[in-house]
Amino acid sequence: MLKTLKNIALTAAFIVSGVAAQADSLQAQANAIFGPLPATMPGSENDTPELISLGEKLFMDKRLSINNTQSCNSCHDVTNAGTGVDNVEVSAGAVSGRFGNRNAPTVWNAGFQFAQFWDGREPDLKAQAKGPILNHVEMGMPSADQVIEKLSGITEYQQDFEAAFNSDDAINYDNLAHAIAAFERTLITKDRFDVYMKGDINALNQQEKDGLQAFINTGCIACHRGSTLGGNMFQKLGVVNPYENQADQGRLELTQNPEDKMTVKVPMLRDIARTAPYFHDGKVTTLEEAVSLMGSLQLGRKLDQQTIDNMVAFLKAMSHDDSL
Ligand code: HEC
Ligand code: HEC
Repeated sequence: MLKTLKNIALTAAFIVSGVAAQADSLQAQANAIFGPLPATMPGSENDTPELISLGEKLFMDKRLSINNTQSCNSCHDVTNAGTGVDNVEVSAGAVSGRFGNRNAPTVWNAGFQFAQFWDGREPDLKAQAKGPILNHVEMGMPSADQVIEKLSGITEYQQDFEAAFNSDDAINYDNLAHAIAAFERTLITKDRFDVYMKGDINALNQQEKDGLQAFINTGCIACHRGSTLGGNMFQKLGVVNPYENQADQGRLELTQNPEDKMTVKVPMLRDIARTAPYFHDGKVTTLEEAVSLMGSLQLGRKLDQQTIDNMVAFLKAMSHDDSL
């Protein structure tokens, strides 16, 4: 009897250490392939509180649009830990009846990427921020000069720009973009996947761990890697099987290089559960569908339902949680 009990205890101890060892090796793999998000964003070293607060004000200000109806935040809602997107297929512009042709990506973590926009046409947040204000299907201002003229007439901004740039002649388009970028550099998500990678192996449940393992083993990490799980390379959509909607050819339009046909920036997957709909055209409505399509289009594999469910559970564990 005693012997049996001892055997059971030994067996239990063996099983527990076996499970722990397995979890540890998955955690080590995850740290090697992804790793937690850095605490600060590249380029944020000189961002002062004054600069960031000016940037936030500008990001929220509808007066940066032609008819005072639209701010950056209208399409990239970050108030109260908002999703950073508008959750529609393609965005409506400030002027009624005008729509963009691509799905709005999140501004959370955006500054960690190697380039901005689906086609990577701008190198960084500052260059990016100059676009939407003057884009006629977005905020629709006629020229940078007119934006500056409008802002210069607002006393509050005269003071805020002076505080942020230590100069009484600081209201110009370049500084405006610089301040918006500084605010965006504070937008870093927090999630349970990072808690897991930083040491708490119980921060993910078993299904989420199975999903993580499948994400690694199936080959998703060929493109979605690094701490943002994307945002660091261009790839073709439809490597193995072609994507149905060929209307927008991605980088081809920008570079005119036939090799860039249907090529876009690999999107980040942090916080992906909150940013539906999916793909550059916003035509994929659910995360399940996106994962299943990735299996067939990029890897030539028909993923079974269990694997899809597990991967989706893992992706959901990367939803931004402000309380962490
Ligand atoms: C009308 C909706 C709309 C408004 C207003 C808007 N954006 Fe966007 N934003 C988009 C869309 C759509 C894209 C993707 C366009 C593309 O890739 O061609 C985008 C892309 C971006 C990106 C690139 C993200 C990435 O992962 O590549 C950033 C950063 C961004 N916007 C910030 C801003 C800022 C800052 C403002 C205000 C100055 C702004 N947006 C105003 C819809 C909008
Ligand atoms: C060969 C590179 C590659 C591989 C492998 C790959 N992806 Fe992707 N993934 C992309 C590209 C490129 C896009 C953007 C597609 C588009 O919108 O044009 C994308 C988009 C996505 C999206 C939608 C993101 C968004 O913001 O709309 C999800 C979710 C996703 N991938 C998950 C996965 C999963 C899960 C796997 C493994 C089963 C996987 N990917 C394998 C390149 C890849």
